[in-house]
Amino acid sequence: MTNYQNYINGEWKSSEKEITISSPIDGEVLGTIPAMTQEEVDVAMEKARKALPAWRALSAVERASYLHRVADILERDQEKIGEILAKEVAKGIKAAIGEVVRTADLIRYAAEEGIRIHGQVMEGGGFEAASKKKLAMVRREPMGVVLAIAPFNYPVNLSASKIAPALIGGNVVLFKPPTQGSISGLLLAQAFAESGLPAGVFNTITGRGSEIGDYIIEHKEVNFINFTGSTPIGERIGKLAGMRPIMLELGGKDAALVLEDADLEHAAKQIVGGAYSYSGQRCTAIKRVLVMESVADKLASLIQAEVEKLTVGHPFDNADITPVIDHHSADFIWGLIEDAKAKGATALTPLKREGNLIWPALFDHVTLDMDLAWEEPFGPVLPIIRITSEEEGIAICNQSEFGLQSSVFTNDFPKAFEIAEKLEVGTVHINNKTQRGPDNFPFLGVKGSGAGVQGIRYSIEAMTQVKSIVFDIK
Ligand code: NAP
Ligand code: G3H
Repeated sequence: MTNYQNYINGEWKSSEKEITISSPIDGEVLGTIPAMTQEEVDVAMEKARKALPAWRALSAVERASYLHRVADILERDQEKIGEILAKEVAKGIKAAIGEVVRTADLIRYAAEEGIRIHGQVMEGGGFEAASKKKLAMVRREPMGVVLAIAPFNYPVNLSASKIAPALIGGNVVLFKPPTQGSISGLLLAQAFAESGLPAGVFNTITGRGSEIGDYIIEHKEVNFINFTGSTPIGERIGKLAGMRPIMLELGGKDAALVLEDADLEHAAKQIVGGAYSYSGQRCTAIKRVLVMESVADKLASLIQAEVEKLTVGHPFDNADITPVIDHHSADFIWGLIEDAKAKGATALTPLKREGNLIWPALFDHVTLDMDLAWEEPFGPVLPIIRITSEEEGIAICNQSEFGLQSSVFTNDFPKAFEIAEKLEVGTVHINNKTQRGPDNFPFLGVKGSGAGVQGIRYSIEAMTQVKSIVFDIK
């Protein structure tokens, strides 16, 4: 069994206490990770702070060269990392390897984008005559020490999407992977270590969020917190962060709004792909269908037919539906299914569970008194809610505490744009499933779904701050 270590100031370190990581697939023990103490966290923070001046003094091109090396290493090790990732978070092996490759691409893009972020020179003169002689040199500087915290569902990709833009912007990084996902996160760290980054520029912190989370968030050395995870933890971070800038990418309840004139076959395929991939454990999964009553029977049966094609089983067989992350999560999902059933929703699929493996569940005639209409299941269950007008659909979408994304299915483009304007979400996809990528696009949630904008260039901008130097030209 491997005892994985943390990477701190250019060295691999263990801690006295360890956490055993087992696979959600079959309980296989995958290794141990350190449960860092507060004193060990202090050392990591201090070393990061010490590394900052030399790192920020490098040119962006020099910093980019390290990132290109990391990307090459990930590409080289895609199968090794993908295999562990698949076991650690029960993700289909093809998708797990795909996550590593997507991460290499994202890192390369961040390196390239970072070298093209330029300052600007501004002239006064738009105001009183005397301001004409004033010139401002506006440049971007790093924030300093960035704390990057990632969720279990993309332990490599949603870690690198914070780390790479932070580093190219001249920041130093402390990376806390999700506990279930830490081994994958530490394999990502190995790529950063092998790239030859100067000591202290990139460091890892492992341990349970419930034990060390508050401590690292409140740590005086941290200048910027970049977090992806659940809304309750994000809200807590928001409170504890004080005046420090943060980026929060949180939960969602993305709706697919299907109008009468939509291509229903196409919509059904997109909806099922969007709702059930990685067993629904994606922030951007379609988590409710709002369909016009007149086409609801047809759409429901088309979705049902697509769901029946999904395979259930083992990630290494590339099954569509695999065990969810843990029993606690499975209990929560099952509770939503039972509530919907008890309140009269029509199950269009057999309702079946074995441990943390839940068969894809589809409900029609879901009503607004059911928890499934509002809660984020983070599992393979999809409610269909019937609506009688577009206005009703928009109102139900906007009634959600979340505001990540929405899909609109219609062939009437002006109408799609009109609806998109009214939806309180960060992104609207027209005739397509909700999704984060491409990774250079802005990605954000409003309301309970987050604060700040991700996406490679947006992330670099968020983790750098403007400094203006003003002088008179005569
Ligand atoms: P989570 O339980 O909120 O955990 C996310 C991360 O926060 C983990 O690294 C966790 O560490 C850490 N954490 C826990 N308590 C903390 C605290 N008090 N202070 C600081 N960090 C703490 O979320 P998850 O279950 O991993 O992920 C699922 C959720 O994330 C869903 O709601 C999903 O929608 C959301 N998500 C959102 C996006 C997006 O971009 N909008 C993307 C992916 C996922 P431990 O693992 O040690 O507890
Ligand atoms: O889980 C949240 C991720 O940001 C979703 O990314 O849409 O590429 O699966 P994805």
